[in-house]
Amino acid sequence: MASCILSIDQGTTSSRAILFNRDGEILASAQEEFAQHFPADGWVEHDPEDLWRTVENSCRAVLEKASLGADQVAAIGITNQRETTLVWDRATGKPVYPAIVWQDRRTHEVCRRLNDQGHGELIQQRTGLLIDPYFSATKLKWLLDEVPGVRERAEAGELAFGTVDTFLLWRLTGGRVHATDATNASRTALFNIHTQRWDDDLLELFGIPQSLLPEVKDSSADFGTVDDSLLGAPVPVAGIAGDQQAALVGQACFAPGMGKSTYGTGCFMILNTGDKAETSRNRLLTTVGYRLNGKVTYAMEGSIFVAGAAIQWLRDGLKLFADAAETEQLASTTRSGHGVYLVPAFTGLGAPHWDPQARGAIFGLTRDTGIAELVAAGLQSVCFQTRDLQACMDDDIAATTGTLRVDGGMVANNWVMQFLADMLGVPVDRPQVLETTALGAAYLAGLHIGWYRDLDEIAALWNGERTFTPEMPEAERERLYQGWREAVRRVRSDVQ
Ligand code: G3P
Repeated sequence: MASCILSIDQGTTSSRAILFNRDGEILASAQEEFAQHFPADGWVEHDPEDLWRTVENSCRAVLEKASLGADQVAAIGITNQRETTLVWDRATGKPVYPAIVWQDRRTHEVCRRLNDQGHGELIQQRTGLLIDPYFSATKLKWLLDEVPGVRERAEAGELAFGTVDTFLLWRLTGGRVHATDATNASRTALFNIHTQRWDDDLLELFGIPQSLLPEVKDSSADFGTVDDSLLGAPVPVAGIAGDQQAALVGQACFAPGMGKSTYGTGCFMILNTGDKAETSRNRLLTTVGYRLNGKVTYAMEGSIFVAGAAIQWLRDGLKLFADAAETEQLASTTRSGHGVYLVPAFTGLGAPHWDPQARGAIFGLTRDTGIAELVAAGLQSVCFQTRDLQACMDDDIAATTGTLRVDGGMVANNWVMQFLADMLGVPVDRPQVLETTALGAAYLAGLHIGWYRDLDEIAALWNGERTFTPEMPEAERERLYQGWREAVRRVRSDVQ
């Protein structure tokens, strides 16, 4: 009998495959990193073949590690870096251009024009998003306008568009299925989150031919069957969600007011708002949390582009340490209020500033600033940014539960988690399984194949590992945070 679910987590810097049992426990995992390409200032690309190859390798490797055949896999769940935009040939499956990654800022001029022309309100009303190069719409428009022949071939119906989930699904099913789920669709800026359909007015505004678009399904659904030749058995794909929404599910934030923050390449804080698509007054996003049996649960999201990537930069760019695990010890040697602030606006600033032209900076250096202070400032920048989001959410929606569930690579660092609790002034809950993104995709697949009756059954599986409670005196918290706000003000492109 099939004993596990295979979760594919295609992220910004690596692809992972994880096998989960029915209790949501990890049986085995495999991971492979791939190259990042930066062909021009603010451009970020992935080779689609790298994405595919690393997914394929990871799936095979994880089955081998667990000594399981594909016939032991009850279903596959897919979760993915969101917004990243691909277009490929329907006949050959070959991409027409590299994947334009969510972090890519090449369309900031187009976005500025759209903003100046006053399209912001329509886009926010229909999609819950703002005009920013982050989302897929202007990336897709760029592919159609700038890559020779793409618009003509698209109009002739020869090409398919998709976010990473859709591209992987296409490849997994041997080109038989062109579909996505509502969470991924909600990040394109082409999808009406109220009607749950591609929006004709927005397709016209961005000049996108309808024939490019995938079918949009529930997050738990029949997404077709994996081609026999890939894993050796025809496993059904039964769940898909963008990685941040999958983490919301993996963290069992099913009640309105429950929220989670995931610290991967970026940091994404999402708050469940139930069946209400709340509009933020603070430039946060309204998005689809998940869609089950046609019923949408909405969420409010704050997106920060650089979190773990700042630590990666300190390690690989500045070579301040060899392994991220060293940062906890290094940071703990610094005194509180060391005065150094690192604003990691490497690809502009996301929520709530939405300033694609801001760039990073370090402030407050003194003669005794050392590696430890720079590392601490890098780690703290992630917490300060989370505080920025929390302030917006508190203002937008009064009824939050107060406790924040956290996950992602960085949350293993106890020093960061304590500082986060101190900065937010609320308890921070770390779960036992930190791979909540992959777990969420497994739960969504499990729901469809009947492993779980409902979300309550999944919620009962959530286990906390440690709670960090705020300890910092209020005055100190505010003093440090004001220093951060001043540092951010100084990197903004629109503030002199
Ligand atoms: O919106 C981008 C997000 O989906 C990327 O996630 O985990 O690679 O930082 P991550």
